[in-house]
Amino acid sequence: MCPPTGGVRRGCAAGTIVERPAGPTTEELQPSVARHLITSALPYINGVKHLGNLVGSMLPADVSARYLRAAGHEVLAICATDEHGTPAEIAASDAGVPVADYCAAHHEIQRDLGERFGLSWDWFGRTSRPQNRALTAHLAARLQSEGYTEIRTTAQVYSVADGRFLPDRYVVGTCPNCGFERARGDQCEQCGKQLDPTELIDPRSAISGSTELEVRDSAHVFLLQSQLADRIRAWVDTKSDWPQLTRSIAYKWLDEGLQDRGITRDLEWGFAVDPEVFPAAAGKVFYVWFDAPIGYLGATREWADDLVAPEDAEAVFDRWWREDRGADDVTYTQFMGKDNVPFHTLGFPATLIGSGEPWKLVDRLKSFNWLTYYGGKFSTSDHRGVFMSDALELLPADYWRWYLMANAPESDDTSFTWNLFGEAVNKDLVGTFGNFVNRTVTQIVRHFGEVVPSGGEPGEAEAELATRVDARLADYVACMDALEFRKAAAALRALWTEGNLYLERTEPWKTVKVDVDTTACTLRTALHLALLYAVVSEPFIPFTAQRLQVCLLGDTGAALPLDPALAAAVPATLPAGRPFTPPGLLFEKLSDEQLEEWSARFGGADSPDGTGGA
Ligand code: MF3
Ligand code: ZN
Repeated sequence: MCPPTGGVRRGCAAGTIVERPAGPTTEELQPSVARHLITSALPYINGVKHLGNLVGSMLPADVSARYLRAAGHEVLAICATDEHGTPAEIAASDAGVPVADYCAAHHEIQRDLGERFGLSWDWFGRTSRPQNRALTAHLAARLQSEGYTEIRTTAQVYSVADGRFLPDRYVVGTCPNCGFERARGDQCEQCGKQLDPTELIDPRSAISGSTELEVRDSAHVFLLQSQLADRIRAWVDTKSDWPQLTRSIAYKWLDEGLQDRGITRDLEWGFAVDPEVFPAAAGKVFYVWFDAPIGYLGATREWADDLVAPEDAEAVFDRWWREDRGADDVTYTQFMGKDNVPFHTLGFPATLIGSGEPWKLVDRLKSFNWLTYYGGKFSTSDHRGVFMSDALELLPADYWRWYLMANAPESDDTSFTWNLFGEAVNKDLVGTFGNFVNRTVTQIVRHFGEVVPSGGEPGEAEAELATRVDARLADYVACMDALEFRKAAAALRALWTEGNLYLERTEPWKTVKVDVDTTACTLRTALHLALLYAVVSEPFIPFTAQRLQVCLLGDTGAALPLDPALAAAVPATLPAGRPFTPPGLLFEKLSDEQLEEWSARFGGADSPDGTGGA
């Protein structure tokens, strides 16, 4: 929102795209620099992620990271592949390759796709790397010495045919809660209940299908979450600003009573427990959900190790993660789908709090509902829905980024349909943003050449535009600060619409015949607005926004701060008489035929709107 003081307020409210003699000084407008750590739920290594995975974690994290960077803050955006546990082992064995090779190859695939989607991580690490191994071992040992672990003998499913234990997803059977016949040992996909493999009815091995299963004893390390419950609740109580979805999930688990949790498994693939710390559990590996969130720290340490000399890496890492060594002024925001919330509000905090060390805990936790494909699940095995690799084959990343964020499943589950996708592209990107820039540039080139038009003085139309743009911009910034992405996208759309309304009010294609000076001022104002769009739209559509910035300004584009005072700073950056390069069409319209074809090809619906009709 507009700052209340006289001088700055003038610049903010009236200054938009109008040239004024004395704007606010840069100093007055300088926002205070904050430090933001941003992580998104670490994608499982198995397989290319679908658009639902993307919009529920990695994409909003990127939109936020880009926004905060553009606002001038210090940002560290961290992600990694989540490589341990049964999902990785099963995928590797399906692919017929050693699990380590599988993970290495798929890490590269996911990194490449993420980059092509414009995900601007500062580091994309791997939970299987040595840095995470060391941090996992360290935290487990700390928990042990603080008295928050215990060895317990547990009953595990053992497959005689396979000659091994079958933890978690290695067992399938009928859910004791809802009767679903393909429930997994760790969770029922149908009713969502967390399960223990021994609870399944008619269990069979997911490896061989064998039903020759026994229950055998096995000793495991347990994390005594029940003893940490009060400290975790007290911490959650301080998070009154968490969204309702996040808070209600956390309290549901706390109210049901936080259970102690086995943090080791009878598997080969994973980080082996230290036999000196846990002699009774020698030979076991840590459970994937124990070391995966520690991967946020591990990946940060990878980044630090890559960035500075070995003797400085610890300090660089600590500055983001240790409250006692510089992280006390960090705002830490996590992004994730709703299924991940318990692990991030309870499980991972239990690890960090229980260590007795002052680790940085999450401040803002943004969780998402599901993006469905025509109301059903995206499914890899059934080839249902659109995956990141498919999406980029069809269209550039910005088309998907805009659609996904403008329709993000924030308050409810949201359904992908080709019709909605086509609408977001054709109405917003082509019809509103693209059309405005194209009309503006075409008129300028036709009547003034490839330079910012000179002449004319801003008048009433420009003052009105300025007021409206400032209001929209303030709205956008407020929504972005609040992590309300749909609303932010709506504010951005409204801001784009102002440009077309301005052209329709001023009609430069008509005035050019009678008043060249006024027309020059109109089109210069419109071009300034296009530059403003190129800056504020960057978090959502970075490729197009940067291209437009480079066309208008040359070199690497704008170094303008994305804040409510942006409008005042634009005219001086793009003064009259300065040459620019026409960007050409920014977006291509999608035809009904294209949408029909994709709908048929990706399945799940007979028609783009899912009604079955044409
Ligand atoms: N791989 C998990 C999932 O996709 C998320 C792990 S988040 C982490 O659901 F914090 F544990 F890394
Ligand atoms: Zn069930």
